[in-house]
Amino acid sequence: MKTSKLAIDGGKPVRAHYLPYGKQVIDEEDIASVVKVLQSDFLTSGPAIEQFEAEIAAFTGAKYAVAFSSGTAALHGACYAAGIGAGDEVITTPMTFAATANCVLYQGGVPVFADIDPQTYNLDPARVRERITERTKAIIPVHFTGQPADLDEILQIARKHNLIVIEDAAHALGASYKNTRIGSIGDMTMFSFHPVKHITTGEGGMITTNSPLFYEKLLQFRTHGITRDERRLRENHGPWYYEMQFLGYNYRITDIQTSLGISQLRKIKSFIKQRKQLAALYTKELSDVQELILPRQLPGAESSWHLYIVRLRLSGLSATRRTVFQALQKENIGVNVHYIPAYLHPYYESLGFRKGLCPVAESCYEEFITLPLYAGMEAQDVMDVVAAVKKVIGHYSNK
Ligand SMILES: Cc1ncc(COP(=O)(O)O)c(C=O)c1O
Repeated sequence: MKTSKLAIDGGKPVRAHYLPYGKQVIDEEDIASVVKVLQSDFLTSGPAIEQFEAEIAAFTGAKYAVAFSSGTAALHGACYAAGIGAGDEVITTPMTFAATANCVLYQGGVPVFADIDPQTYNLDPARVRERITERTKAIIPVHFTGQPADLDEILQIARKHNLIVIEDAAHALGASYKNTRIGSIGDMTMFSFHPVKHITTGEGGMITTNSPLFYEKLLQFRTHGITRDERRLRENHGPWYYEMQFLGYNYRITDIQTSLGISQLRKIKSFIKQRKQLAALYTKELSDVQELILPRQLPGAESSWHLYIVRLRLSGLSATRRTVFQALQKENIGVNVHYIPAYLHPYYESLGFRKGLCPVAESCYEEFITLPLYAGMEAQDVMDVVAAVKKVIGHYSNK
């Protein structure tokens, strides 16, 4: 197919200005909410943290929520609370950010990677079953791009083998699985509030849980392993007294950050609605591009559309993914790639992980391109991306 000269070949780019793949939406209400805290007595460990926790718990339907300084710190807390220790195996997906597996290593555990389903790119329960051993202690499914993983199957495997399920819902605030909102289904669920996510606190994360036991452990882990809870003190020297009972961390979030989170959470429904509409527009406009496999939604799993990822049918193209990616960047479209399979990072290779472990994830990685998607995007931005994709794919198509 003939298209106009690509920007990578010296032609005019589709967009005059660069469109990022994701970014926050901050309004005057958000700014006022943060300023109010800056003028108050508490910059950290004050009332905004508890309020944000209570509001996230209410939104997700969980009994408890514990905020952390990042999603990564929250995952570390969840692994501690789950009792992951030296040599314990935790099954997870390779199609994720490294933090999902790193949290197991922080506790001295062993991440075990199971391959993904080629339709949803989520952990494949059949592959999880193959990886269970006597040392398996937990499963960490990721709701990749915001589409919930197959939780019925994963929970069934977990119950059968007495495993804890920690959901990595960094992409999935507001997503639903069989009409239940993500956050109250597994034993613990992690959310991230990094600026590209559905709502932001700058850096920040949260664990939701229905378990009072996990809740107590998470609170204490977040604050150096310290407690002031009279019921649990070994001694009590007076009202000032506290005890550090195990080695925790300073993983506290601040009131400055959570005041932003509270204000952002008020807009979550419109943010998600916006993302859904933009994703539907991509799907409508790109459905005739045969060189692309578009994201598929399974019945019962309602995505919160963190990412819109297309998969290239490379056999229909005369270019590599790298060339298509670079050509789109030159058209001023901020494409990205999620993710290099976690075990292919040099650090994981130094631990003995090798290419070939999860072939589906590896081939998806070779073919994935993430298109821009965030709540502040306009329909015209989507149409610019579509025009650039059609221009570039048309140029390199074998047809
Ligand atoms: C799937 C996944 N897990 C974990 C994390 C870690 O979250 P944070 O960046 O808040 O530490 C991220 C964030 O990028 C993520 O996308």
